[in-house]
Amino acid sequence: MTEDAELALGLIGSGFMGRTHAFAFANVGRVFTLPFNVVPELLADVTEADAARAAKALGFHRATGDWRSLIADPRIGIVAITTPNTLHREMALAAIAAGKHVYCEKPLAPTAADARVMTAAAERAGVVTGVGFNYLKNPMLALAREIIASGEIGTVRSFQGIHAEDYMADAEAPWSWRLDPAGGGGALADIGSHIIATARYLVGPIERVLGDVVTAIPSRPMARGSAERRAVQVDDVARAHVRFANGATGSLEANWIATGRKMRHDFEVSGSKGGLAFTQERFNELRLYRTDDPAGRRGFRTIFAGPEHPPYGAFCVAGGHQIGFNDLKTIEVYDLLRAIAGETTGHADFREGLAVLETTEAIYASAREGRWVRVSG
Ligand SMILES: NC(=O)c1ccc[n+]([C@@H]2O[C@H](COP(=O)([O-])OP(=O)(O)OC[C@H]3O[C@@H](n4cnc5c(N)ncnc54)[C@H](O)[C@@H]3O)[C@@H](O)[C@H]2O)c1
Repeated sequence: MTEDAELALGLIGSGFMGRTHAFAFANVGRVFTLPFNVVPELLADVTEADAARAAKALGFHRATGDWRSLIADPRIGIVAITTPNTLHREMALAAIAAGKHVYCEKPLAPTAADARVMTAAAERAGVVTGVGFNYLKNPMLALAREIIASGEIGTVRSFQGIHAEDYMADAEAPWSWRLDPAGGGGALADIGSHIIATARYLVGPIERVLGDVVTAIPSRPMARGSAERRAVQVDDVARAHVRFANGATGSLEANWIATGRKMRHDFEVSGSKGGLAFTQERFNELRLYRTDDPAGRRGFRTIFAGPEHPPYGAFCVAGGHQIGFNDLKTIEVYDLLRAIAGETTGHADFREGLAVLETTEAIYASAREGRWVRVSG
């Protein structure tokens, strides 16, 4: 790789995640030494006007109202897909067929069958893929994983994980693409995918699940204040007992009507010699309990993120000053770019996106059938 090698970015979508991707790609070269000079080349959205407005705001050179022309553009080397879930498969397959690297938001697709096709196509084409499981990029999660792998808390016996927010708690919150059953599901597909990814990252593959899903708000207005309502078919809350391949047991919850909760992506890991506790609402902290602390002094201690926890130090030389959500995305982009340059980064790729979807589908199947279900794959 020459020092001035360029990688031109094509970004599809400029909503919440589109802006986050744009921010991460813009900043990654300021925080890290990169294998490429990333060029924010082309942004696509539904209309030319929307795309042009977003391209100007986000610093892209060009805009288009036609995502297919973005993929056909020979200059583009990587395509970032930040559109609603139902569009991921078609866009990713087109990008792969054009030989582009693909960075797709989670959930990778509405179904595991879709994700299987996408993963196979990418692996056949030899392009590098990434999925937006940004919470895995927290230096405190890397620390938790290291503590578990080193045996510091002994044998992991149990994992409790929850991803809970309240953006759908208002029964009058209107219909959106997130409620479209064709998108693959509700809270579990949307935010449950993150906590499944975290469970897998820390404890390993999930073998069997016993799921229960609930639609708590049976209908939503088509627009805020509208009298026209549409029945909701997807889950507002999903819960599952899980058995990991390594023998650990656990529970998972996805909940988008958790009134008052803004960003619980929380877990507790209990081992034979200690435990870990974490909440995303204070994500620069990891709590550690060790049974070998002296009697009378045992308790969860709080470890604050600092330069000792890479790559925190790339953002800030001082501990306790805290990194933010957009920084996690910047780390995710950095790992993806290094993978494109040929390094092994262990980042979440399409195969991981598929494994998460297989777990999601097993939970839905279990809830439908009222029995334990083995996770396929
Ligand atoms: N990783 C995370 O933390 C995280 C957080 C939120 C959302 N997401 C995922 O990101 C994706 C997008 O979510 P969002 O919250 O940004 O949604 P959003 O509704 O805010 O943005 C979607 C964008 O896609 C554009 N779009 C829709 N159809 C298009 C088309 N045919 N061509 C081009 N652009 C089109 C929309 O105009 C909009 O700009 C979803 O898959 C979601 O699950 C991930």
